[in-house]
Amino acid sequence: MREKSDMQTLAGRVAKLLSKAERVTFLTGAGVSKESGIPTFRDAQTGMWANYNPQELATPEGFLKDPKLVWQWYDYRRKLLGDAEPNPGHRAIVELESLVTKVTVVTQNIDGLHQKAGSSDVVELHGSIKKFYCFDGGHDAHDVPFDLEEPPLCKCGSMIRPGVVWFGEALPPHAMSRGLKECAESEVVFVAGTSALVQPAASLPYAAHRRGAKLIEVNPDETPITDIVDEFMQGPSGQVLPMVVAALKELKGV
Ligand code: OAD
Repeated sequence: MREKSDMQTLAGRVAKLLSKAERVTFLTGAGVSKESGIPTFRDAQTGMWANYNPQELATPEGFLKDPKLVWQWYDYRRKLLGDAEPNPGHRAIVELESLVTKVTVVTQNIDGLHQKAGSSDVVELHGSIKKFYCFDGGHDAHDVPFDLEEPPLCKCGSMIRPGVVWFGEALPPHAMSRGLKECAESEVVFVAGTSALVQPAASLPYAAHRRGAKLIEVNPDETPITDIVDEFMQGPSGQVLPMVVAALKELKGV
C-alpha cells in the first residue's frame, strides 16, 4: 500500500513536475467519462443489457452470430454517449493545453468526450462509436441513422458495423505507434481512469516508464501499474485533475 498524502499536497508535487515539462500525455480509459454519467466498461451492465456480457457482444464473431443484437447494443450506447457532456476532468486536460507546450490524449474511450471538451490532439486507440465502416470491405459509412432494427448494408453488400475496436481485433493503424511516440517524448504521462488490463493499450504506461517519463496515476482504485507510478492520486479524475491544474496555475502565477 502506498503512503497516503493529502490530495492538495499531491497536486502541488505534480504541478511542480508539470512546471518543468514541455510535453504531457494523458492515457485515459472509461473512468474519466464516469463523471459524465457513462458507466465504465467493467461496471455492471444495466437495464435490458444486464444479461449480456460486453466481452461477447464486442467481438466480430458476436456480431456475425447476432448482427441485430450487437447493432442494437451499440445504438443504445451511441444514444447514451451522445447526450453525455464532458466533465471537469476532461476540461482540466483541455485547460492544461494553455499551460504547457503540448498535451496529447491517447484514449481507449470511444465516446468522443475529449474532443467535445476541446482537446486538440486525441488518439483514439479503440476507434469511435460515432464512426462506421462495412464489415467485409472497410468502406466508410456516414450519417447512419438511429433506431435501425439491424445493420444497414454498404453499397458493396456487406453489413455496416460500428467503427470501434472489438476484442481480438487490431488497433487502427498508427494508433499504437503514435501512443508509443507520445509516451517516449513526454516528460510527464498521466494514466487516468483505466484498469490497465487491456492490451496493447496497457503496455503504454510501461513504455513511458522505461523512457524515463514521470508517471502519474489518477484512479479511485489501485491497478496493476500503481506500483510503478511516481505519484498515485487516489480519487476521481473529475476532482483530481482540476486540482492539479489549479496548483500549476498558482505556481505559474496565472
Ligand atoms: P475499465 O472499466 O476496465 O476500468 C475503468 C477504470 O476507471 C477502473 O480502474 C476504475 O477504478 C476507474 N474509475 C472509475 N471511476 C473513476 C473516476 N471517476 N475517475 C477515474 N477513474 C475512475 O475501463 P478501461 O480501462 O477503459 O476496450 O477498459 C479498457 C478497455 O476494456 C475498453 O476500452 C474496452 C474494454 O475492452 C474495447 O472495447 C476494445
